[in-house]
Amino acid sequence: MDCIQITGGVPLDGEVWISGAKNAVLPIMVASLLCDGPSYISNVPHLQDVTTTMELLGRMGASLAMDDGMRIEIDPRGMHQFEAPYDLVKTMRASILVLGPLVARYGRAVVSLPGGCAIGSRPVDLHLRGLQALGAEVSVVNGNIEASAKQLKGANIIFDTVTVTGTENIMMAAVLAQGTSVIENAAQEPEVVDLAKFLNAMGAKISGAGSNTLTIEGVENLHGTEYSVLPDRIETGTYLVAGAITRGHVRVTRTRPRDLDSVIEKLRETGAVIEVGEDWIDLDMKGRRPLAVDITTAPYPGFATDMQAQFTALNTVAEGTAIITETVFENRFMHVQELQRLGANIRVKGNTAIIRGVDELNGAPIMATDLRASAGLVLAGLVANGTTTVDRVYHIDRGYEIIEEKLGQLGARIRRVASPRKTR
Ligand code: EPZ
Repeated sequence: MDCIQITGGVPLDGEVWISGAKNAVLPIMVASLLCDGPSYISNVPHLQDVTTTMELLGRMGASLAMDDGMRIEIDPRGMHQFEAPYDLVKTMRASILVLGPLVARYGRAVVSLPGGCAIGSRPVDLHLRGLQALGAEVSVVNGNIEASAKQLKGANIIFDTVTVTGTENIMMAAVLAQGTSVIENAAQEPEVVDLAKFLNAMGAKISGAGSNTLTIEGVENLHGTEYSVLPDRIETGTYLVAGAITRGHVRVTRTRPRDLDSVIEKLRETGAVIEVGEDWIDLDMKGRRPLAVDITTAPYPGFATDMQAQFTALNTVAEGTAIITETVFENRFMHVQELQRLGANIRVKGNTAIIRGVDELNGAPIMATDLRASAGLVLAGLVANGTTTVDRVYHIDRGYEIIEEKLGQLGARIRRVASPRKTR
């Protein structure tokens, strides 16, 4: 198991390019199962979750080819198995996304019930209820979700809670249903919009993407298409916070600024001078210490829960006291106790963290617990005195492409080392 070693104290300075969005490429790759020919997906990030998804689709019989230009060809014509087994689902919860497409296109699916994870219990009840509303038979047997339907029928579905992959699963199921479906209280994330655009490029008839109401007119079949995945707004936000926490000057390129309005507003509140172009964002702290900034997470267009850990880290060294409230997941403060090991002054009460900025953090060995928490720990290591070693860095490899190279490009003193062998 690798770990990442950082020697803090360097104000980052430079330019970094942004990869394709993890949370768009995963549903888009799965959606390619819905059509009757090959699809070509470009701007694909090199991430563990992409590799896992390729393995999942390959095991079902789809043929996949990836060229060195971050472009994947997925041809579902060899599909012969409609299962997502536990050994893959336990490493990537997003495997649940195969449920809708498999039932819609092949009439059946067996998907291991995703367990909980570090950030919460993460039930999938809304996914299952949505499929049942479309006419599927759904049961949970021996830890597996078993779903089947001869022909899905359009339905009106109202989600009690905004769910990103729930919206994506039901949208993918409804595109081949007989008749029209309406999804109310739908997720509005840019990644959901990207998936809808991909599906429409395949011949689906989806309207309202980006609003809280989606209308999907079922069609007979879908054809393969070419598509380029949108840039990753969470990766973008993470590198901007890296510039802010180190009092540096960072420009992120090949991104989509309009997806980060709430993050840019909060960074300006910390005192960052930010310029925005067509596909770039330039953040300059002018060498100043960031000011504490309050955050309350919410579904898009609110402040992204996936940016919470990064701003928690930023506030640990900011001037003043910040209140961070996590409204989306019930246990998304796993990074707090690791930040406390570096000397952070944070108190967690329920879903709220009270952070009193300290003048400095001191490096120590710490442990990653989940993808975005590990990003927050790396950011803290960039500003802590001395050396910080972040263990279990496989979490970070799931969602950040070559993070140590990109941060190194910005001047960070960072390297990946094999974890010291546990002595008996
Ligand atoms: C997606 O997860 C993202 N993952 C997450 O990113 C992200 O944090 C999350 O949306 C919120 O934005 C992917 O897109 C692959 P939800 P998802 O369903 O869809 C509850 C990352 O770091 N809920 O929107 O699983 C749930 O418990 C990952 O890239 C139900 O109660 O999240 C949570 O409290 C982490 N029943 C809330 O809804 C359900 O059936 C939002 O979850 C489904 C969800």
